Order: sequence, then C-alpha cells, then structure tokens
Amino acid sequence: MYVCLCNGVSDKTLREVVRRYQPKSIQQLRQLVPVGKQCGKCIRAAREIMDDELQHAPLYKEIA
Ligand code: FES
Repeated sequence: MYVCLCNGVSDKTLREVVRRYQPKSIQQLRQLVPVGKQCGKCIRAAREIMDDELQHAPLYKEIA
C-alpha cells in the first residue's frame, strides 16, 4: 500500500528502512526516504508506521 502518493513510497519500503536504519525522528526518516516532501499528507501515517516498526523491531547494528 502506498503511504506517500506524491513520491510513491510504500508502507513496505518505510518498514524496511525503519528496521534497517532505526531513525529517531520523522526528520531522520525523511532524510532516508522521500516521504512527506511535497503535500505532507502522509507524515502522520509515516510516523505511525515508524513508531509501530520501532516498537517491534529488535535492536541491532549493521556491520560494515
Ligand atoms: S503524499 Fe506524501 S508528500 Fe504528498
């Protein structure tokens, strides 16, 4: 499902990015994916997905 229609960002993409990079804020998430950079209507949904994914994601650090 698309979360950000303006930039074609899906919930699957957001979840993968959050799991991999574990952004601490929506600003950090926006530096990783082009979510909310146009109309901004997707910010709330993106934040909910980020919070949900961070709650369930195990903490790990990428090596290399
Ligand atoms: S829907 Fe994401 S910026 Fe418009």
